[in-house]
Amino acid sequence: MLTTESIMEALREVKDPELNKSLVSLNMIRNIQIQGNDVSLDVILTIRGCPLKIKIQEDVENAIRQLGAERVTVTFGAMTDEERATLSASLRAEQHASRNNATPQGGKAPSAAPGIPQTNYIAIASGKGGVGKSTVTVNLAVALARAGKKVGIIDADIYGFSVPDMMGIEQRPTVIDDVILPVERYGVKVISMGFFVEDNAPVVWRGPILGKMLRNFLHEVHWGELDYLLLDLPPGTGDIALDVHQMIPQSKEIIVTTPHATAAFVAARAGAMALSTTKHEILGVVENMSWYTDRNGDKEYVFGRGGGEKLAESLNVELLCQIPLGAPGNVLEDPEYSPSVYASNHPTGKLYDELARKVAQAVTT
Ligand SMILES: Nc1ncnc2c1ncn2[C@@H]1O[C@H](COP(=O)(O)OP(=O)(O)OP(=O)(O)O)[C@@H](O)[C@H]1O
Ligand SMILES: [Mg+2]
Repeated sequence: MLTTESIMEALREVKDPELNKSLVSLNMIRNIQIQGNDVSLDVILTIRGCPLKIKIQEDVENAIRQLGAERVTVTFGAMTDEERATLSASLRAEQHASRNNATPQGGKAPSAAPGIPQTNYIAIASGKGGVGKSTVTVNLAVALARAGKKVGIIDADIYGFSVPDMMGIEQRPTVIDDVILPVERYGVKVISMGFFVEDNAPVVWRGPILGKMLRNFLHEVHWGELDYLLLDLPPGTGDIALDVHQMIPQSKEIIVTTPHATAAFVAARAGAMALSTTKHEILGVVENMSWYTDRNGDKEYVFGRGGGEKLAESLNVELLCQIPLGAPGNVLEDPEYSPSVYASNHPTGKLYDELARKVAQAVTT
């Protein structure tokens, strides 16, 4: 039977995809009209031009059709400034409560610094640039999400951000007043400096601003509940790495290297810094670009051999995995296209699933 109450009850189950809260509790459903088997209603979005409008529309229509409605007409509106302010204030209050009063549960590490998300932090570091930190961050995050974990990425490479491009993200974050909602892709929540600059303009800010950006990404972003928050660090052992330590002393680290002896030697420096200066626990080493499989199926060790193993040995940690050279083979026409994410049925995707399993085992949620 179609009544305003039964429709509201059904819509209680429909969530705003970004806020992960019921449309009813967000007061987004208004003006329900029923005529026979036809229903019309207004859905009031947080912002005009909400990128997830189509998804919301589908979910609302399906929920009401399941009650027996034949035609469902959804009209979209936007919250008033006042309504938006009330919503952002309640989001902030909720965030504040969960971050400052939370008692750590299970294996979840407590944040030393109040006000940042209570979750397991994993920073991806290297000594040298271009060894595949960002690629590893993105694929480890996607693999953890595939395994059912709630995962976020902070692209902490403020100058050299690359995560949005690598994941094929064209969307920008929704901002409700001063609350920033991360962009979700492949089930991973992402925030990057790349979302806040126009047309790929270079970022020329100096030290203090960089630290401030990182602080904002931690404090001002509405992450919701997370099992893991991965940080894609810039190359080397610079300021950002120290900032990460200061802000997130409990972060753990994964060190990425190529199999080349020199790369491993330089990576050892990042490792040494993690151990001595930042005192971050190192989860292990990922060796990237380990080999190339030629047409005959033979492995060619184009960047040498043994770097990962040597580094792991010198840091007294595990060599978590070796990732071969090779593209994900994604095609541009695919709506799920991204240049750098390996699907779960790709041999390299399987290696990342295995890495995610090891990481989840080492850092339980
Ligand atoms: N296993 C791989 N096979 C093929 N190409 C790869 C592989 N890993 C990384 N790449 C490519 O190598 C380049 C460098 O990788 P990536 O950007 O992940 O490194 P990075 O360490 O984050 O670099 P930076 O220090 O500049 O941040 C990218 O173009 C990436 O697509
Ligand atoms: Mg990078």
